[in-house]
Amino acid sequence: MLLKLKAAISEHRFAHSMGVTETAVRLAKVHGADVEKCRIAGLLHDCAKGMSTPDMLKIISEYNIKLYPHEADYPHLLHAPAGRALAERDYGVTDEEILSAIRAHTVGAVHMGLIDAIIFVADFIEPNRKPFDGLDEARKLAQKDIFAAVDKCRQLTSEYCKANGQKLFSIEQY
Ligand SMILES: [Fe+2]
Ligand SMILES: [Fe+2]
Repeated sequence: MLLKLKAAISEHRFAHSMGVTETAVRLAKVHGADVEKCRIAGLLHDCAKGMSTPDMLKIISEYNIKLYPHEADYPHLLHAPAGRALAERDYGVTDEEILSAIRAHTVGAVHMGLIDAIIFVADFIEPNRKPFDGLDEARKLAQKDIFAAVDKCRQLTSEYCKANGQKLFSIEQY
């Protein structure tokens, strides 16, 4: 999986993926989640980052992955649903919890499980992230209460999007 991933994504993205993997493993141990599932989900969460938008849309449709309303309007979000399909097709992942965490790592999900939450937060706080306001708080919260950390990450992302004039959309209608 490591070799295949390394060939498929940029060096920068691979370093980030290793940071997320390491963080996800650490959080799995803290919160009593399955360490191996978190390791694989962390490693593969951005596996579709090297794909073109048409290729992502194709694999999403082939695997019947439902998109949230407006999700396809933001091509940079498509690597999550496409990644879920690619992890299954090219990396042989069949575990629903791993696939779900890859799917949920960008915009989250209405009901997030423990592994979904760990990957969502690990993506946000991994050691290669450049410092920004709220990052330390999110890192501390991740040690204590992973679901509170999810809320914190969501809040910081919303604030960032608003400050940059980006529109927010709801996933409630999924
Ligand atoms: Fe991602
Ligand atoms: Fe990521």
